[in-house]
Order: sequence, then C-alpha cells, then structure tokens
Amino acid sequence: MHSFLDFDQARDIAKKHGTPVLVLSKQKVIEKYSKLSNALPRVSLYYALKANPYVEVVRILNEVGSNFDICSIGEFNTLQGLQINTGNGRVIYTNPTKKEEEIRFIHGQGIDLFVFDNSLELRKIAQSAPGGNVLLRLEVSNPHCVVNLSYKFGAEAGEAEPLISEAVSLGLNVKGLCFHVGSQTANPQPYVDTIMTCKKIADRLTSRGIRLDLLDIGGGFPVAYTSSIMPIEKFCEPINEALDNFPPDTRIIAEPGRFLVGDAIVLITKVIGKSRRKDVQWYFLDDGLYNSFSGKVYDNTDYNIISEKTRNREQCVVAGPTCDSFDVISTKKVLPELEMGDLLLVTSMGAYTSCSASEFNCHKRTPTVVVD
Ligand SMILES: Cc1ncc(COP(=O)(O)O)c(C=O)c1O
Repeated sequence: MHSFLDFDQARDIAKKHGTPVLVLSKQKVIEKYSKLSNALPRVSLYYALKANPYVEVVRILNEVGSNFDICSIGEFNTLQGLQINTGNGRVIYTNPTKKEEEIRFIHGQGIDLFVFDNSLELRKIAQSAPGGNVLLRLEVSNPHCVVNLSYKFGAEAGEAEPLISEAVSLGLNVKGLCFHVGSQTANPQPYVDTIMTCKKIADRLTSRGIRLDLLDIGGGFPVAYTSSIMPIEKFCEPINEALDNFPPDTRIIAEPGRFLVGDAIVLITKVIGKSRRKDVQWYFLDDGLYNSFSGKVYDNTDYNIISEKTRNREQCVVAGPTCDSFDVISTKKVLPELEMGDLLLVTSMGAYTSCSASEFNCHKRTPTVVVD
C-alpha cells in the first residue's frame, strides 16, 4: 500500500528510463527475506521463482542465502545463468506433474527432491529418478486464500498412507509431506490445521516404521495490496506453535514467492488518454492487463493506484493501452482528476505481474530497473 518511491524519485526514474517501468527495491527484498526468516526461526526458505524469476530478484535472494524452489527447466536455467550452486539440496523441484524427460534432466543436474500427488507421477519419478527423494503433496481446503492451489494439486489426507507405501515399494525415498495453503492467505489458521493433519499422518507412518524427516509448508504468505494485512511476526506465531509438535530433528522448509518480492516492486505508469463515456470518467494508462497488470487476470489481484493529486476525486474506469476492450484494469478506482502525462504509482507489483505479462499488440513487456 505504501510506496517506497515518492513522486520526485519516480519523475527522475521516468525521465531516465521512460514509462511504464517497474522499480525493484533491493533493500526491500533483503528486508522481506530477513523478516520471514526471523518470523519462522525453524524454517529454511526456498524462494519460489515462479512469483518473479527476474534475474536481479534471484541474485539478491541468492546473496542473502535463500534456497530455491523451481518448477521448470527454464527456472533451472535461470539459476544456472546466475552461476548459483544448484547442488547440496539448495534447490527443490516442486511441480507435482512433470514430463519424464524433465525429471531425468533435473535429477541429472543433482537436484533430488521431487513432489508427487498421485500414483502415476510416482511411477514416472521411480522410472526417471530411481531411488530419488520425494515429498507427497496434500490438498488444503482454504476458502480464505485468493488463489486456490489445491484445485489442481494435492492428494487427500486419506490417500497419504497408500501412496507413501507405494513410493517405498517403488524404491523411492519418502522424505515427507508438503502442501500449499493457497496464495495470498491472510489468516494463518489453514497452515495450523494442515500442519496438524501432517502430524497425524506422520505419527501413523512412524508406527508402521516409516519415518518422515521433512515437512514443507509451502508458500501463501500474504502482502498488502488494497488493504492492510497482519504483521508477519504475528501471522507466524501460531504456525511456529503448530510446528513445535514435530520433533526437533524434523527439517521444516517453506516455499515463499509473493511475500519476498510482492511489495518490493512499484510500477510507474503514465496517463496517455482520457475520455468521458456515458458520464463515467475513463483514464488510459501506458501499462495494462496484457502487461504488468496481468495479475488482475491470473492472480485475482486488485492493485493500489496512487496519484499525487487530490482534487475532484471520483469513481472512474482505468484501462490499459491496447486496442482491446478487455484491457480494463479497474472499473471502480476512486481517483482525483488526472491530466495527460500524469504519473501514477502502483504498489505491490512484484509477484505474478511481469512474469505473466504478454506482448499483445506488440507492446514490449515493461522493463524492471533496480534501486538500492
Ligand atoms: C508449489 C508452489 N510453491 C510455492 C508457490 C509460491 O506461493 P506464494 O507466492 O503464494 O508464496 C507456489 C505458487 O504458485 C507454488 O505453486
């Protein structure tokens, strides 16, 4: 909600780089990594590249000691391009459904932790990464998340024991369980409930002689968009308490994406047109739904648009620059009266924005520049 850039800084950046431009704050990424690490003292963090694979984001997180969660060969190539050491367990491969050649390639690169949620996937892993390490992904029912990641993935709790037994019989090494509560989850309770479900499954398996030594609590940690959120320290308190139910030698990891980078990027965009249509004010910007605002479509997100003006505020429609009527960012923004060329700042534009942008109408994807 709060912009780390003020309008004077934005004008300087726009003068130098043009608009639209995404501005990445290095300090903010470092701060977010440190906040989450401190709030979850028992948990090792694996940055989920899918939230924003921009090389500078990855480079900064590598410098502060983050591990990485990847889901494609392309994401692996990004790590390699930065000469990041992908061995020693620093990288996990968490896409629940993958091609066999993908598993073979990734395993051949020394990455040895794969996720499965069904029997066919298990057999693919056993075939392409024989003896490999696996995590069973469980589904999570969480009506409070903004993006439900259990719609497509996750086994039911009742399937866990038969699937894990099958994994063992296929010669795989079952390291543990994982889940994703859903992205942008504003309430910690779904983590607590699912951690306790995992504990019950782990106890039942222990009594059968199968010991799980890893729990992966996924991503989902929220950032502020148009309303404020719980401070992360408070958010993580009940999660830490739930984790205390696991013995100290159980390794706990998480795969945060949005939290680490979501509010580390501000978009600077410019008013390039206006019109009054059926007595409703329309503003056209030089960035839109097909570009950095793609998260409105794919990530269900409404963004906070800030003007430095204050007069004549009214509800208006904000649209992007393409020749498509679908390219509408919001029909309900309350903005002051704007003029051609006015700059606007859009906060929390770091996660699931530029990475899902397109070049529709041959508009270039909005570039990202880094500030300290
Ligand atoms: C397997 C997996 N891990 C981690 C993440 C990152 O989630 P978030 O950005 O909500 O932290 C995602 C998001 O899609 C995911 O699918």
